[in-house]
Amino acid sequence: MDRRLCLITGASAGIGAEFARQYAALGWDIALTARREDRLKELASELEQKYGVHTISIAQDLARANSADKIIAALSVQGRHVDALVNNAGYGLPGTFFNTSWKSQAEFIRVLYTAPIELAHKVLPGMADRGYGRIINVASLAGYAAGSNGHTLYASVKSGLIKFSESLNAECDAFEGADIHCTALCPGFTYSEFHDVNGTREQMDKMSKRMWMDAAPVVKAGIDAVNRGQPVVVPGLVNKSLATLTRIMPEPIGRAIMRRQSRTIRRQD
Ligand SMILES: NC(=O)c1ccc[n+]([C@@H]2O[C@H](COP(=O)([O-])OP(=O)(O)OC[C@H]3O[C@@H](n4cnc5c(N)ncnc54)[C@H](OP(=O)(O)O)[C@@H]3O)[C@@H](O)[C@H]2O)c1
Repeated sequence: MDRRLCLITGASAGIGAEFARQYAALGWDIALTARREDRLKELASELEQKYGVHTISIAQDLARANSADKIIAALSVQGRHVDALVNNAGYGLPGTFFNTSWKSQAEFIRVLYTAPIELAHKVLPGMADRGYGRIINVASLAGYAAGSNGHTLYASVKSGLIKFSESLNAECDAFEGADIHCTALCPGFTYSEFHDVNGTREQMDKMSKRMWMDAAPVVKAGIDAVNRGQPVVVPGLVNKSLATLTRIMPEPIGRAIMRRQSRTIRRQD
């Protein structure tokens, strides 16, 4: 029997690369996708040597409208289907909504929202036929908190992913006899290239180390949660406390705190 295959988007760095390492350590074959092919190939060869698993590297830009079809087609030609999907690719779009071009906003929505949902829609029928599947959508603690001034669509797409995951998990629970689950993983600040890419590294380096997590425990929390059938997971005690606070705090207070915080955690230029 073929080993199970996990497809991971945004596998060339950070949390996605860590998902690849942890699923490979569990004995899964790995399909890695992102734009930087050299990074994917380097990680693929590390996984093959270290864990003896099979890997497939697919260079794709999720901002392109047909990228999900191309990724699934690249797997089909090798006779592979997806047993686990990790929708992880993402970035922060610095600046304000007003000052950012529609092209950039539309690409952002495509990479962080439309592509994950499209990929889930394309792999789910096969999962239902085989009676097994795992879908992890990497959302964010930002999906819980009040909206910020700057990076305007980020919290919006992440809260959309949380709701989508909850609903899809409920739908999967209704598949009779099937072991299919969907989870939104909601990290807080996590060491990766994310803040270098969005140009907030300098501000971030001033924050307390207590606010930060390594990618490894974040990823482990996601894998454990989806195996349990838990629709949403917030990794780490500090993040869990913040998520609880945002739910019990009166909304105007949450908004006021986020407006003040936006100056340090968001770029508004
Ligand atoms: N780090 C944090 O503090 C944090 C907190 C909460 C949530 N998150 C979420 O965690 C996820 C992973 O982020 P990370 O922290 O691991 O950041 P990262 O280290 O910058 O990795 C981002 C990944 O997304 C890929 N990506 C970006 N644009 C893409 C595109 N157009 N098409 C295909 N792939 C693309 C990048 O690959 P290429 O550049 O090679 O394409 C890279 O592999 C994101 O969804 C992010 O929103 C991160």
